[in-house]
Amino acid sequence: MPIEHRHLTLGRAFGETGLARRETDQQVRRWIAEVLLPTEEVWVVTDPGEVVVAMMALSSEMLDQLYVVPAWTGRGIGSRLIELAKSRRPSGLDLYTFQVNADARRFYERHDFVEVARGDGSKNEEGQPDVRYAWRPSLASVTAAEAQAGPTKG
Ligand SMILES: CC(C)(COP(=O)(O)OP(=O)(O)OC[C@H]1O[C@@H](n2cnc3c(N)ncnc32)[C@H](O)[C@@H]1OP(=O)(O)O)[C@@H](O)C(=O)NCCC(=O)NCCS
Repeated sequence: MPIEHRHLTLGRAFGETGLARRETDQQVRRWIAEVLLPTEEVWVVTDPGEVVVAMMALSSEMLDQLYVVPAWTGRGIGSRLIELAKSRRPSGLDLYTFQVNADARRFYERHDFVEVARGDGSKNEEGQPDVRYAWRPSLASVTAAEAQAGPTKG
């Protein structure tokens, strides 16, 4: 099944993802229309019926708002969006995730994102301790070269 990446059209958005959140659908749609779309590059994945099943936003250096609808996870959509993000920002990308989100952390680490900082949650709206990850093409090639060389003797 081909996956289509499309720039988000106004009015179709997050309400369709069914993700847990504190805001109402109306608030989220308004935030997407008035804040996210004008300031970030937003990509969505749609199913054959053109329903949005995943989204991702990119600022100049941050990967943000990566969500896949639960019924569509584990099928490679997140990985393809990460590859798209890397191709759109070839010099590097950073992102934040919550410390408790073990699945997302494992996912990002498998895609060569490296933990660079931890926060106590005082700087995000949810008050949740977070982790900042960075992907740099140079770091990824060093890691790959180390893996190829095998373990070093200490
Ligand atoms: C984290 C998230 C974005 C990953 O997206 P995804 O589409 O599920 O990611 P992928 O399918 O590419 O990879 C996830 C798993 O599927 C497996 N997978 C990859 N391609 C696959 C395929 N074609 N068929 C079956 N499984 C596949 C991967 O090996 C991986 O396995 P794991 O469970 O051991 O980690 C998604 O799970 C999500 O939206 N989670 C909830 C929201 C969230 O936490 N977002 C991050 C906020 S910072």
